[in-house]
Amino acid sequence: MNASSTDARLHAPAAARNRDAILTVLKAHLPPEGILLEIASGSGEHSIHFAQGLPGYTIQPTDRDERARASISAWIAASGVTNVRPPLALDATIRPWTIEGVTAILCINMIHISPWAATEGLFAEASRLLAPGQFLFTYGPYKRDGAHTSDSNARFDADLRRENPLWGVRDLEAVIALAAANGFSTPEITQMPANNLTLTFQKR
Ligand SMILES: C[S@@+](CC[C@H](N)C(=O)[O-])C[C@H]1O[C@@H](n2cnc3c(N)ncnc32)[C@H](O)[C@@H]1O
Repeated sequence: MNASSTDARLHAPAAARNRDAILTVLKAHLPPEGILLEIASGSGEHSIHFAQGLPGYTIQPTDRDERARASISAWIAASGVTNVRPPLALDATIRPWTIEGVTAILCINMIHISPWAATEGLFAEASRLLAPGQFLFTYGPYKRDGAHTSDSNARFDADLRRENPLWGVRDLEAVIALAAANGFSTPEITQMPANNLTLTFQKR
């Protein structure tokens, strides 16, 4: 993510490339109104885009990183949207999360850029917060049957593991098994730009 010199807004170039594809999946599954909890919101650009694309929703952005939360606040102020709440400090590994009453949960590009404990926290807390029939969406790259789905994902994985040995592109089957153990359905899998997937899990 790049910071502008004039304000706290960060720019994640990938967000502009994937946000419409993700929004299409959200629109296909979500009821017309509710509260969408976003985990690991990063720059906040997705929160703003989804607030504009889902006018029946209030978006609750979160991130564990203070600089990200400052960016989210700056994007909210600059965009003028009224259906995004101020960002919450939320580390997916620290349970229980102090939020209630959400309709759906979304997590973009965190699972591979955090220790596995963050994914465990994500599914455990999503299971606790969501009612049967409600959705958890994840977006990112995954290995399938133990193999990378592209050379670029393999290089990305190596870079991630060099930066932090606890990070890395996860096995799709491991994520699905964790989800099942936490009471989620087998996900609907939607192919996304740049060899990423959106996984749509429904609480059983
Ligand atoms: C690659 S960025 C993705 C940001 C945004 N979702 C996007 O796609 O542009 C990864 C984000 O995960 C957040 N993160 C990492 N570990 C986390 C954790 N344990 N709990 C919550 N957020 C975490 C980081 O602070 C960062 O904002």
